[in-house]
Amino acid sequence: MFEQRNGILFIGGCSSLDLAASFGTPLYVMDETVIRENCRSYLAAFAAYPAAEVLYASKACMNRSICRIIEEEGLSLDVVSGGELHTALAVGYPPQRIYFHGSNKTLAEMEYALEAGIGCFVVDSGRELNLLSGLASRRGRAARLLLRVTPGIEAHTHEFIRTGQLDSKFGFPLATGQAMEAVEQALRLPFLELAGVHCHIGSQILDTEPFVLAAEVMLDFLAQVRAKTGSALTVLDLGGGLGIHYVDEDDPPTIAAYAASIVAKVREKTEALGLPTPRLLVEPGRSIVGEAGVTLYSVGTIKEIPGVRTYLSVDGGMGDNPRHALYGSRYRALLANKAGFAPRMRVTVAGRHCESGDILIRNLELPAAAEGDILAVLATGAYNYSMSSNYNRFPRPAMVLVGGGRAELIVRRETYADLEALDLVPDRLGAGRPTALPAAGEE
Ligand code: LLP
Repeated sequence: MFEQRNGILFIGGCSSLDLAASFGTPLYVMDETVIRENCRSYLAAFAAYPAAEVLYASKACMNRSICRIIEEEGLSLDVVSGGELHTALAVGYPPQRIYFHGSNKTLAEMEYALEAGIGCFVVDSGRELNLLSGLASRRGRAARLLLRVTPGIEAHTHEFIRTGQLDSKFGFPLATGQAMEAVEQALRLPFLELAGVHCHIGSQILDTEPFVLAAEVMLDFLAQVRAKTGSALTVLDLGGGLGIHYVDEDDPPTIAAYAASIVAKVREKTEALGLPTPRLLVEPGRSIVGEAGVTLYSVGTIKEIPGVRTYLSVDGGMGDNPRHALYGSRYRALLANKAGFAPRMRVTVAGRHCESGDILIRNLELPAAAEGDILAVLATGAYNYSMSSNYNRFPRPAMVLVGGGRAELIVRRETYADLEALDLVPDRLGAGRPTALPAAGEE
């Protein structure tokens, strides 16, 4: 996806300097080819399994164009909110291929999803079971669902993105018997069609073992369900979580290796337990879009504190990428206009938000940097745009889709007008008289 021509970084065949000049910085750049290749790798990796379905976890990066690409590639979709669902429906995503997750769905969201005819709910609590049963009864049509189970597996990843352990806000714990109770409740309630079970053990997982373990635990559970209730549930959804390459130390399994390890375990275990071959679902987010993304920033202030540290400030920060501030996540980066130049300095890349914690990268080796250079931070395609904010009222960056030397805007840059568009001023405060605006405000 990257190329270097005369010291200039090219992404998807486009000069990153031209992209920065045409679309401004900060800029999210997404390489379409990489996204499509990852989708195809997932489909190919599970092709040998009799019934597999790959869902894109849209929380990783969602907008109308990304959604179109995912749909064209034939993946199904995981949404967790009315907003994600709405975006999918807005571009004609087939509702039968949409799965609705979320740990506290509102009644309005559930009604919206039922009305839209989505294929399946992933139910997270007894409250949701009752709500769904009630709504489906009123419509006179059964709702299809999976139950989210917490299998009690501790994946070795950051505490905030670990979700499979017993002490979690998500799902029905296996260990306490609540998962079995939920199955029984779902089988008892009218107008519910319980298809199977789901788990998601965490994110940015860099080996296959936790996934294999999850498959094992979940299949044991399906066997217990059959023994206790006589029902053979047919869907096993193992969630997402495959990690990507952020920094040199990250060595994630390939998509093929990940799939092969799961498929082998599912085959072996179903045979041992005498279970029918389940329909197997996975829900990758990060590993579809993460490495397809690069964020371009302009370098501003460079502050050297002799003997302490050099801060290199860029024109974005935690507003467009909160991941270092939140999880201590690490990234690689380079100067897009000095690609391949020898390292000359070690810097801490800081954003321009009013917080000391607004750091993007610590201890980055760079060639001699100067104001106006373009810094390219790599592997920012997942959970950057989707977790962005307007903190300090900075407008959010644009997103451009590149591929084969073509660049197209898919999210336009926010303007100051966008920032105030939702504000309302009660009459008693008066409208205020706008100060004469300078002709070209910096937006
Ligand atoms: N399925 C479920 C039910 C999930 O909760 C998630 C992610 C996924 C699939 C997709 O996981 P992935 O393949 O992307 O690892 N904001 C955090 C990541 C939170 C992940 C939440 N759930 C970050 O920036 O690292």
